[in-house]
Amino acid sequence: MSANPLAPEWLVHPEDANALAPEVWPSGAARAASGAIAIDGVEATALAAEFGTPLYVVDENDARSRAARLKTAFDDAFAAVGSTVKVYYAGKAFLSTEIARWMTAAGLNIDVCSGGELAVALAAGVDPARLGFHGNNKSRAEIDRSVGLGVGAIVLDSVVELDRVAEAAHAAGKVQAVRLRINSGVHASTHEYLATAREDQKFGIPLAEAPDVVAQIRAHDSLRFLGLHSHIGSQIFESDGFAEAARRLLVVHAELLAGGDVPELNLGGGFGIAYTSADVVTPIERIAEDFAQVVSSECTALGIPIPVVAIEPGRAIIGPSTVTLYEVGTTKDVLVSLAEERREETAIRKYVSVDGGMSDNIRPALYGADYAVRIANRVSDAGPALVRIAGKHCESGDIVVHADYLPGDITPGDLVAVPATGAYCWSLASNYNYLGRPAVVAVANGKARVIVRRETEEDLLSRDAGVTL
Ligand SMILES: Cc1ncc(COP(=O)(O)O)c(C=O)c1O
Repeated sequence: MSANPLAPEWLVHPEDANALAPEVWPSGAARAASGAIAIDGVEATALAAEFGTPLYVVDENDARSRAARLKTAFDDAFAAVGSTVKVYYAGKAFLSTEIARWMTAAGLNIDVCSGGELAVALAAGVDPARLGFHGNNKSRAEIDRSVGLGVGAIVLDSVVELDRVAEAAHAAGKVQAVRLRINSGVHASTHEYLATAREDQKFGIPLAEAPDVVAQIRAHDSLRFLGLHSHIGSQIFESDGFAEAARRLLVVHAELLAGGDVPELNLGGGFGIAYTSADVVTPIERIAEDFAQVVSSECTALGIPIPVVAIEPGRAIIGPSTVTLYEVGTTKDVLVSLAEERREETAIRKYVSVDGGMSDNIRPALYGADYAVRIANRVSDAGPALVRIAGKHCESGDIVVHADYLPGDITPGDLVAVPATGAYCWSLASNYNYLGRPAVVAVANGKARVIVRRETEEDLLSRDAGVTL
């Protein structure tokens, strides 16, 4: 069988459309004797029967061990150059009280960027001193609460906010530790909406303004300056962008030392993961070593001590740990004309519609993200067919997987699993078309348990003032 001409260039025609590429699936995923996909020993069929679909299934041991591996990699790399690291888990990627506890148990701090995320971290029992608070428009209430609780660091995003935090800390009789978010101007190679350090966007202040703004921070007795902060974007595979941002920030960091302490430097998150087999991921140990090397050599060149380096990855920890299970409702073979000079020719794309969609994974619609898919309840010998996994929403852009090959006998009632849905899927989920958001189930050592329950029809109606239940 040959490749379907409608397939994107990066998609390899598989020898076995049942195979689970290890780089894309959580470490606990495997085919069980029945042929079903199992996550840490629990088969997809059992998960769907007990908890329903769509369903986010988190491989707990995978998430915990990625957190631990990342921390060890950075601890070791920075110890080798005589410094230390603070790792924050970026809660925006996927936060629940249980996930927050896994992260703190692995020795990570937690980064939040709203009062809601703060509430989840507190409900998980996270010590406020281990929290960082982000965001380009924190409300006064969020600032007051953070200061009052003793949140470890507030990342200032503007001068307006600097004054607000100083006032809040002064009024509370506290000294609040702050970082200053810089827009380094480094253009990371990633999708435009994921790149956060281009000049024409809302985050941070230009590097050239940092000395003046830091002087303003230092002028307030109620603020303690921790250091500069940079986050250049997300889903980045190469170290070059991070290295360039670190170099640019360290030059200013060195200047700032003339005016007082600058104990830390925060280089953000953004490490890429494999969504499909076409994504080639740099091992985290290599990234950590690159970070440590560039920071240490730059500090040596500038003649300054190496600061404590903070990082805040989300996707690289939680993204690969999760798969979303769906049930197939309908399938449809659609005859499609080829592009450009081959318009006279046609090929078939099989549309497979599932019981979720853009409400549980907005990323393909939001920025064209690619995912992979496999039949989850069985294996099949049928030849591979090019499929598009569509959701059930009233938008033609409601796509979960733009292109992959599945056994051509995929049929209504089958389960499919989409891997690498741990980051920015549940956290960006919506109730579009009044679909209840799916449950989140954690699987570990052959046991599955709900860590966030499914939204019910009652939940959906509960805020409608016109409903008398
Ligand atoms: C400031 C900041 N830090 C960290 C992150 C986490 O990025 P990632 O999940 O790609 O590691 C983000 C993501 O948007 C961010 O905006």
